[in-house]
Amino acid sequence: MASSLSTEQSTTSGIQDILANNRQWVATKNAEDPEFFKRLADGQKPRYLFIGCSDSRVPASGITGTGPGEMFVHRNIANMVVHADMNLLSVLQYAVEVLGVQDIMVVGHYGCGGVAAAANNKQYGLIDNWLVNIRDVVRLHETELLRITDEKQRLRRLVELNVIEQVQNLAKTNIIQNARRGENPPRLHGLVYDIADGVLKDLQVDNTGNFSNMAHIYSTEAPPVADAGSAPEPPTEEEDSSSYEGPQHDPGQE
Ligand code: CO
Repeated sequence: MASSLSTEQSTTSGIQDILANNRQWVATKNAEDPEFFKRLADGQKPRYLFIGCSDSRVPASGITGTGPGEMFVHRNIANMVVHADMNLLSVLQYAVEVLGVQDIMVVGHYGCGGVAAAANNKQYGLIDNWLVNIRDVVRLHETELLRITDEKQRLRRLVELNVIEQVQNLAKTNIIQNARRGENPPRLHGLVYDIADGVLKDLQVDNTGNFSNMAHIYSTEAPPVADAGSAPEPPTEEEDSSSYEGPQHDPGQE
């Protein structure tokens, strides 16, 4: 059919454009610095971890002026830090414990479609189960949000509050908590990007201060680590679950 053929042609030419752009980029980079790719092939030691929205108008490298090797990147709809998200947790652990990133930024953006979708009561399908995490942010800050009468301003504030909550969510992970007991813990930042003017704004999230209010709930401590190379101690007779016979009966309580 003519319509499917034209779709196929435009798809092919789209990828041809990508490949042509790539060859041009390789040529430019090599002209600027003949060692560029050789250095990158040796490994990465990025200073930053970027957690941003998948929105095509928020290109991580472009808006931060970082090049290859400088920033580890995770993107999802509405720049969420969800504690059951194996993808985010794996990226975070690798970035903190292996790469040793120094600054972690959650980057939201005004005009976020995910945040706008969470702010209304329509169903969108599977994604509703992701958006519920943003609805939790609405619930936490409902009083403040209801005071803002202008809908556009209310959505902008929700974008900011969502970033702040995601920074808090980072602080709740055992990955960040353990890193903070080490020598060079990464700093956490909440930023908002304005797609209307290109400006990135620091929300100055005081995550340590705010988090201290919740530390009695979320702060956890890792169990002591056994010496490397030694086998784990076998359970003592009391700890061995096979000899467990239920709670101790105390006749004095009756
Ligand atoms: Co977005």
